Amino acid sequence: MNILILGSGGREHAFAWKLKQSSLCKQIYIAPGNSGTESIGINVQISVNDFNAIAEFSINHNIGMIVCGPEDPLVNGLRDYIKSNIKTKHINFIGPDKHGAMLEGSKDFSKKFMIKHHIPTAKYISVTKENLSEGKAYIHKMTMPVVLKADGLAAGKGVLIIDTVEDACDELDKMIHGMFGAASSTVLIEEFLTGIEVSVFVLTDGENYLILPEAKDYKRIGEGDTGLNTGGMGAVSPVGFADSAFMNKVEQQIVKPTIDGLKKENINYIGFVFIGLMNVGGEPYVIEYNCRMGDPETEVVLPRIENDLVELFLATDNRELYKYQIQTSNQYCTTVFLVSGGYPGDYIKHKQIKISQGHELLFHAGAINENGSIYTNGGRVMACSALGDTLEGALNNSYTLVSHIEYEGKYYRKDIGKDL
Ligand code: AMP
Ligand code: GLY
Repeated sequence: MNILILGSGGREHAFAWKLKQSSLCKQIYIAPGNSGTESIGINVQISVNDFNAIAEFSINHNIGMIVCGPEDPLVNGLRDYIKSNIKTKHINFIGPDKHGAMLEGSKDFSKKFMIKHHIPTAKYISVTKENLSEGKAYIHKMTMPVVLKADGLAAGKGVLIIDTVEDACDELDKMIHGMFGAASSTVLIEEFLTGIEVSVFVLTDGENYLILPEAKDYKRIGEGDTGLNTGGMGAVSPVGFADSAFMNKVEQQIVKPTIDGLKKENINYIGFVFIGLMNVGGEPYVIEYNCRMGDPETEVVLPRIENDLVELFLATDNRELYKYQIQTSNQYCTTVFLVSGGYPGDYIKHKQIKISQGHELLFHAGAINENGSIYTNGGRVMACSALGDTLEGALNNSYTLVSHIEYEGKYYRKDIGKDL
């Protein structure tokens, strides 16, 4: 089978690496891909939001499966587009339709969904221009800090955590008046939850589900979780505190009601549900849903999965997941992201990258190949993933890989996994 992967990050390189191991996989294409995906398949210069070009390419290259890495094509309705075209509807597509993708595309929608289906989450109200004064009155009654969230997709930047009532009211004003464009014309004012975060991944065919290995992501740029938010600076799997008692609560209180809720709402959800959770004194609360896999979490989750991923994906779009169980390796997997100096602020691209000793689990992200040389091409450059029998062992292997890669301005966090 020919497979088309959409996206250009470390997540998509990891998908390509894992799918390529299947005997069912013939040729992998990645649109648009990066210097790493090129070593596994063929990169094609199609943008992930060019639905027409994706459909044309799929028809012309006999694509049997499309795996959508990022959220925006899903939120924009790529599944609906592929499944409504007579020439592409047979293609196995991994990712929910436009309605399902609203779990990520609208935080107001996902909060209402959680409340309706009794899924534990922080208390909130949702505010627009019309009830702005109600929003400010709500802030005055809250314990600080308070969380303000843009309803729509804001490239990971739409969440503010604010310490004083005055600042919260000011920022609420700015958000409602266009700070994140249309994404913040509705804002959620949310209670701040204190705890430790963990990412849980569910693969569902709309009826049945499998829970994949969990992971912890390190979002801040600075050591000790300080500084600005990034796309993710590293990740580890498994996560010590997510023991079987905790994961049992996650399944009963969150995963089951989520999948049941989607069914009750007649949402034909096929693909990943990525649940961002907060462990508050041993109890799981949903911070957010995403309609795709995480990045960099994919780079530590897939190396721990022993199943044939093409087989699992075929079963997903054929409603046959009940036939499978996830086989997870007992090993630890960690990843350390190398980023461009200055990221997540301004940074310079096109620095040549020298890799003195690579590894199969070195997943490229913001990196391109030009005539055989590799150059930086984004903020997050490469995810140095590694396995080990212990967390320390895996981290040592990741940091050894880090030491074999050089480019001007190379930056990474030295404390990934140190808090666990
Ligand atoms: P989100 O985009 O919803 O994942 O939010 C981004 C980050 O903000 C999360 O990963 C959390 O670290 C933090 N966050 C969001 N909502 C809350 C909350 N209710 N309480 C505490 N932290 C939060
Ligand atoms: N690692 C967080 C995300 O993919 O959104």
